[in-house]
Amino acid sequence: MLLIKNGKVLINGEFLERSILIGNDGRIEKIAVDAKLKTADEVLDAAGKYALPGVIDVHVHCREPGLTHKEDFLTASKAAAAGGVATIFDMPNTKPATTTVALLEEKRKLAAAKCIVNYGFHFGATSDNIEEIKKVKNIAAVKVYMGSSTGNLLVTDEKMLNDIFGSGKRIMVHAENEAMIKANEEKHRSDSDGTKLHLKIRGNSAAAKEVERAIAIGRKHGTRLHICHMSAKEEAGIISAAKKSYNRLSCEVTPHHLFLTADSAKELGNYAKVNPPLRQKEDVAALWNAIASGTVDMIATDHAPHIREEKEQNYWNVPSGVPGLQTMLPLMLDAVNKGRLTLQQLIKLTSENPAAVFGVKGKGRIAVGMDADIAIVDMHKEKTIKNDEMLSKCGWTPFDGWKVKGVVAATIVNGKIIYGSGQISDEKTKGKEVIFNGN
Ligand code: DOR
Ligand code: ZN
Repeated sequence: MLLIKNGKVLINGEFLERSILIGNDGRIEKIAVDAKLKTADEVLDAAGKYALPGVIDVHVHCREPGLTHKEDFLTASKAAAAGGVATIFDMPNTKPATTTVALLEEKRKLAAAKCIVNYGFHFGATSDNIEEIKKVKNIAAVKVYMGSSTGNLLVTDEKMLNDIFGSGKRIMVHAENEAMIKANEEKHRSDSDGTKLHLKIRGNSAAAKEVERAIAIGRKHGTRLHICHMSAKEEAGIISAAKKSYNRLSCEVTPHHLFLTADSAKELGNYAKVNPPLRQKEDVAALWNAIASGTVDMIATDHAPHIREEKEQNYWNVPSGVPGLQTMLPLMLDAVNKGRLTLQQLIKLTSENPAAVFGVKGKGRIAVGMDADIAIVDMHKEKTIKNDEMLSKCGWTPFDGWKVKGVVAATIVNGKIIYGSGQISDEKTKGKEVIFNGN
C-alpha cells in the first residue's frame, strides 16, 4: 500500500490538499484530508506539490520490433516515466509494421516483457489489410498514413480509405497530401540544405488539403476520427469549423509544434526535420489559440527518436522525427507558470481527454476506484533540459539548454513509484496493457 501525503489534487474543478491511499490492487482506495487516513507501508510526501493524473500520451514510436537501435519498450518507457507519462500508445510503423493480428500479438509480448509504464497499441492500415482491421481487438486506433512518413505505411486510394474509415474502428490519421509532397520533392530536388527546405516540401496546403479529405470521408461514415499533430493555422480553422457539426472528431498537437518554428532549424539543422514540419510563428500562434478555444483535444508527443548518426546526414537522407516523452510535461508546466494555459486545462489535454476520446478504462482522473497512475509535479522548481539526461536511446532532445519552471518529482504507475528523485526507481515492475472500450 502506498500513501501519497498532502499533494494538491483536482477535485470538482478545484485544487485541494489531499492524501491519496492506494490499495494493493494498484487502484485509488481513498482520497481525504490526511488526518482521516490510516498510514501505509510506503509514504510519499507530496506537500507543496501537485498530484496530477499520469499523462496519457496517445502518440509514441517505441520502435520495437526491428528498429531497436533507435529505441525499445524499456528505453521509451523510462523516458516516459521521467516525464510523468504513465501510459503510452505505440505506433505501428515498426519493422515489420504492425498490420496483422499475429504481428500485434508478437508486439504485445515484447511490450509486456519490457515496458515499465502502461501501454496500448495502434494498428497500421495498408491497402490490403481490411480483414485484419476488422478482426483486431483492443487497439487504441487504426493509424492511417495518408501521406508518407518514416516507414512504408501509406494509403491514399479513395476506396481503401472508405473501407478503412467505415470499419467501425477508431481512426487516427497522419494527414499530409502525398501528391503535393511528391511534386514538391521533385521541384526542390536540387535545393541545398536550407532551413526552410522541409517546409517548402510539406507546406501548410498539403496538410490542409488532406485534413479536409479525411474529415469528409470520416463524416460520411460517422467515424471516430482523430487528427494527428495538427500543425498548420489552416488546419486549426478547418478542424474547429468541422467540430461544430462532427462531434466524433478530435485532434492533438505536439510540444514541438507548440514551442519550435521552422527557424529552429537554424540551430538544430536536420535534428529539427519532422513530419509534419515545424512551421511559422503564425501557425504556432494559431495552435495556442486553438488550445485556448478548446479545439485541441490533447497534447501528444509523437515521440519519434532517431539516433544522431541518422540525423547528421544530408537533408534528403535524414529520417523525420524528434523525441518528446521526457520533455512534454515540463515544457507544458512551464507554459502554465507563464500563464499560457491553466493547470486544469493541462490536465484535460494530457489525461482526461485522451482517456475519454480513446475510451481508456479506469484512467485519466484522480478519483476513488481509478488506476493509481499519478504524476507528482513541483511547480516552483526550475531546471535546464539537457541532452545527457535524456533516457531515450537516441540521447538528444530539440530542447537541450531550455530552462523550465515546473518539473516532474515522481511518477506512479499502477500504485508503484517507478520514478522519483531524478532516478528510475523501479524498472522491474512492468506496466499493463490498457483496456479500450469499444474498439
Ligand atoms: O516525423 C515523423 N516521424 N513523423 C511521422 O509521421 C513518423 C515519425 C517516425 O516514425 O519517425
Ligand atoms: Zn508519429
